[in-house]
Amino acid sequence: MGIPFFPKKKHLAGLDIGSGAIKLVQLERSGKGYQLQKFGVKTLDSELIVDGTIMDAGRVVSMIRELTEEQGLKTKDVAFSVSGHAVIVKKIQVASMSEDELEESIKWEAEQYIPFDINDVNIDFHVLGTPELEEASGQMDVLLAAVKREKLSEYSGIVREAGLRPVIVDVDAFTLENMYNINYEVNPEELVALVDIGASVMNISILKGGLFAFMRDISIGGNRYSETIQREFNLNFEQAELLKKGEAPGGVAEEIDAEALINIIDLLNEKISTEILRSFDYFRTTSSNEAIDRILLSGGGAKVKGLIPHLSEKLNLPVEMINPFKNIEVPDTLFDPSFVEEMAPLASVGVGLALRVEGDR
Ligand SMILES: Nc1ncnc2c1ncn2[C@@H]1O[C@H](COP(=O)(O)OP(=O)(O)OP(=O)(O)O)[C@@H](O)[C@H]1O
Ligand SMILES: [Mg+2]
Repeated sequence: MGIPFFPKKKHLAGLDIGSGAIKLVQLERSGKGYQLQKFGVKTLDSELIVDGTIMDAGRVVSMIRELTEEQGLKTKDVAFSVSGHAVIVKKIQVASMSEDELEESIKWEAEQYIPFDINDVNIDFHVLGTPELEEASGQMDVLLAAVKREKLSEYSGIVREAGLRPVIVDVDAFTLENMYNINYEVNPEELVALVDIGASVMNISILKGGLFAFMRDISIGGNRYSETIQREFNLNFEQAELLKKGEAPGGVAEEIDAEALINIIDLLNEKISTEILRSFDYFRTTSSNEAIDRILLSGGGAKVKGLIPHLSEKLNLPVEMINPFKNIEVPDTLFDPSFVEEMAPLASVGVGLALRVEGDR
């Protein structure tokens, strides 16, 4: 029996309430690494959460309950995250001061960067340090995150109604950063873009040496493909989803022109690459012209056929799907490997959330 040092803090369960699917991930420390304990996915009908707004709270709550029951989740303590219009994350510069001083003044510092009434948002910040070149300027870099209060209370209300305790609220971009850092070798000079394409939001984050450099949420995702296919061929949403996921047209509905379908998908792949390119250009003009080295994709929307080669060609960069379980032991006594492999792209945010521990920052 050893001397009890610090009580071992338990990891929170990660609950990713996306507009296309709810994901639950639980991890446990094992030796130096992590082991997957729970992983479940519940697909949502497209009208339950529309562009991040919960339209049918009752049904979302019952989906969360079903998911936690099916998974036999024992803890009530969860981390969840928010993304989209209601979230602003920016690297800003302020005059050098202590954390306490910044705590006092962050509201005034933040005001100019936030397009909402400052009294309607919750603000969090993290001092990144003084950039080398600007040591003499008396400035420091601060990572600023602001989330609309309305959004926070909407989502925490849902979590509580589902019988859980929301302990930490995170931002999708930060969860992705944490997930990346435990799974991938970080090269201090490398600029990596993490692009998560969900059902309604595409999150673009740029990390330099594993640290936050830029992020932007854009309102486009897998739903855009399904909606367009649905409209074009006069189908219901479910049929369109099947076609998007690569089901043979003949098995879904009669008289679907396979070539027209390919054209729609290509057009939307093009739209996604244009948006990514635009964000990279913007990043370049606001940083000192730094170029991205590679792209790691995640999110169910990234599974669209042909998207990876399309992006790689248009952006002229190496592009690959991220594996959020790369450094996580996945016991095959608990999980069907083909399920884990198929759903891994959807788990990135959930894994990042499941890395959080109460009071860790
Ligand atoms: N095999 C596949 N091929 C194409 N698209 C897929 C595939 N599997 C899932 N998707 C799409 O992925 C999306 C769901 O992915 P994900 O769970 O990452 O989104 P979300 O987190 O719910 O959405 P958001 O983050 O925008 O709120 C849906 O649009 C779904 O149709
Ligand atoms: Mg998502």
